[in-house]
Amino acid sequence: MHPIGRRPFLFSAAFVALFSSALSAQTKPRIGVIGAGKIGGQLARFWAEAGYPVMVSALNLDEMKKLAADIGHGARAGTAREAAAFGQVIVVSVPFGALPQVGRDYAAELKGKVVLDTTNPYVGRDGAMANEAIQKGTGAVVPTYLPGVRLVRAFNQIGAAKLAPLSKATGEKTGVPLASDDAEGLRIASQLVRDAGFEPVVVGGLSTAKRFDVGSPAYTDLRVSELKARLGLK
Ligand SMILES: NC(=O)c1ccc[n+]([C@@H]2O[C@H](COP(=O)([O-])OP(=O)(O)OC[C@H]3O[C@@H](n4cnc5c(N)ncnc54)[C@H](OP(=O)(O)O)[C@@H]3O)[C@@H](O)[C@H]2O)c1
Repeated sequence: MHPIGRRPFLFSAAFVALFSSALSAQTKPRIGVIGAGKIGGQLARFWAEAGYPVMVSALNLDEMKKLAADIGHGARAGTAREAAAFGQVIVVSVPFGALPQVGRDYAAELKGKVVLDTTNPYVGRDGAMANEAIQKGTGAVVPTYLPGVRLVRAFNQIGAAKLAPLSKATGEKTGVPLASDDAEGLRIASQLVRDAGFEPVVVGGLSTAKRFDVGSPAYTDLRVSELKARLGLK
């Protein structure tokens, strides 16, 4: 073909490539991780690798700078407040005992955002405050610490060391149970679960989080069919 005849095609191909990369960046929300330790740090890595803009945060900012550099893919580090402001979607993965402070101090930044909460209550680590969630269920109690957010319980039942190998395992995928009262939160969390290499299993509203809290039969890593069976889901 005459070189001039190819120009419109080349131009439009370049335009389409540019447009679709802009679109995919646009459709991947920014993720702010508050508490990028064993769980939050690995989740940040999954999503940065999948093309999400990610900011990791913790109490120790120097450690976060090292983590962000190690993750690469444009991951950045900040304070918890900066991550709360940066994220269009937030992951809270701090010790359960830190939730009241996180919810109080970053209320303005978190307001109205989808928040994936991985926390689990343990009296030994978190003190007596953990008892309420152990008794009533995390889905009933976490909203009292994180008011005004679109809360999704997620990624609370897979051991940190197993996240990376299970995400890459062949065969039937490992399920991640989700509970939320917010339909859009569930949609976004489900996509994030898939992009981390797992399969979402929507259990129901926040009150159903109790069914995969610590100590429940679903509180372990399970292939989707077994997870659904233990949760009594089809
Ligand atoms: N480990 C597991 O297998 C597992 C599995 C599922 C769910 N969970 C739950 O998920 C949560 C995180 O577990 P993890 O094992 O990842 O814990 P971790 O390794 O101890 O990480 C906790 C992170 O939270 C940060 N942090 C602590 N207090 C904070 C505060 N007030 N503000 C901001 N950041 C704070 C820590 O920062 P510094 O390091 O700077 O102190 C650290 O980066 C816990 O609630 C845990 O029960 C754990």
